[in-house]
Amino acid sequence: MKKYLIKTYGCQMNVHESEKLAGILENMGYQPCDKNEDADIILFNTCAIRESAEQKIFAHIGELKKIKAANRNLIIAICGCMSQQDGYAQNIVKKFPFVDIILGTHNISELQSFIEKRQNTKKKVVDIKETEDISNRDLMPKKRTSGINAWVNIMYGCNNFCTYCIVPYVRGREVSRPIIAIKQEVEELVEQGYKQITLLGQNVNSYGNDFADSDVTFANLLKELDQIDGDFRLTFMTSHPKDISNEVIDIIANSKHIMHYLHLPVQSGSDKILKAMNRRYTAKNYLSKIDYAKKKIPDMEFSSDIIVGFPGETEEDFEGTIQLVQKVGYEQLFMFIYSKRRGTVAEKMDNQVDLATKKERLKRLIELQNQIGTKIAEKYIGKTEKVLVSDVHPKKKGFVIGTTFTNKNVNFPGDKTLIGKVVDVKITASKLTVLFGEMEG
Ligand code: 5AD
Ligand code: SF4
Repeated sequence: MKKYLIKTYGCQMNVHESEKLAGILENMGYQPCDKNEDADIILFNTCAIRESAEQKIFAHIGELKKIKAANRNLIIAICGCMSQQDGYAQNIVKKFPFVDIILGTHNISELQSFIEKRQNTKKKVVDIKETEDISNRDLMPKKRTSGINAWVNIMYGCNNFCTYCIVPYVRGREVSRPIIAIKQEVEELVEQGYKQITLLGQNVNSYGNDFADSDVTFANLLKELDQIDGDFRLTFMTSHPKDISNEVIDIIANSKHIMHYLHLPVQSGSDKILKAMNRRYTAKNYLSKIDYAKKKIPDMEFSSDIIVGFPGETEEDFEGTIQLVQKVGYEQLFMFIYSKRRGTVAEKMDNQVDLATKKERLKRLIELQNQIGTKIAEKYIGKTEKVLVSDVHPKKKGFVIGTTFTNKNVNFPGDKTLIGKVVDVKITASKLTVLFGEMEG
């Protein structure tokens, strides 16, 4: 039996694309394995969002030199955002001559023909494309690996060109899938028993902007999907604050399935920095959207992404971020040190912040968020929550893990028969952001 190993880096988009790549490999007769030594093909699905991701991936590819020397038939393939960057494929070939196949973000659906070409010709296959017909990607078989959750792409690419971000360069322009195709996929997944559907797009709020039909909007998509019968939760990522409408919030407020959780990346609390980032909203606009959501959906939880040390960020700008974080009260924050990306507008800004300052700001923000997150978790103590059980606890025997309708993680005593069920859990304690409780009834 031939074996495959996929190493996935980066965001949920990549996690889901790896499920599609696994689908192709399994159709070809490959079975999954966990060890480099056992694999006939090792595929790196790469990320380019920050330099640290790239360094990690390069180190991991380097580790395969010996394994390839011991197993000449092993195929090593690289795909994803890192290989799509200008000049990277050539660099990878030079640096790692033992790599067999390189494809970008637009031709992953061709993996099978690339593998066959390599096997037939014994030559390297390197091909990066600039665009694609997205129906190829939609038609890829999927080997879903995320338990009770199923990812569903609603669109690909990004048109925003935030000045720090590499994504529009490596993922291309926004292309949406038709509502009917998405609805059909979600209906099938619900029928198959998936209990949580997570819609994916770099900027879900601009879903449908590329269609002539003005009825194809994210709000209408949500309305359609919420009408599907069955026991499931619906959530989505990622939203852009400039595009999320009050209508979307109203739909969530009146929906049956859509979770009371919103990931709304703010990036900075300083208007000067937001402008330099080309985010096209102010801290005040952002806060007014959060206030509207809090008013309409009082139990809504929020999370966000923040970049510290963007070029030109002064202590005063950073204070703006601190104040905004305090005002919103995020359940969770993903905090990053600004990383220069080649080809972006911010790369050329001459007011880069030094690393020591960036690290110190990150540390302060993490400390603040720990306090906020802890307080938010404590609010749940004494309440009874509807918890969707996703799995047995990976370490604590006799415990299961799950999430509230507001996306808070909960641990409580239980066994695997509960997986996929929604149960009432009385919350008795919390530790940092995690809740602990006991099943009722
Ligand atoms: N440096 C640091 N963080 C970045 N992100 C995107 N580009 C960069 C960069 N160059 C962060 C943003 C985005 C998240 C996915 O990654 O916060 O929302
Ligand atoms: Fe990058 Fe901005 Fe697009 Fe998000 S919206 S992927 S941060 S360019």
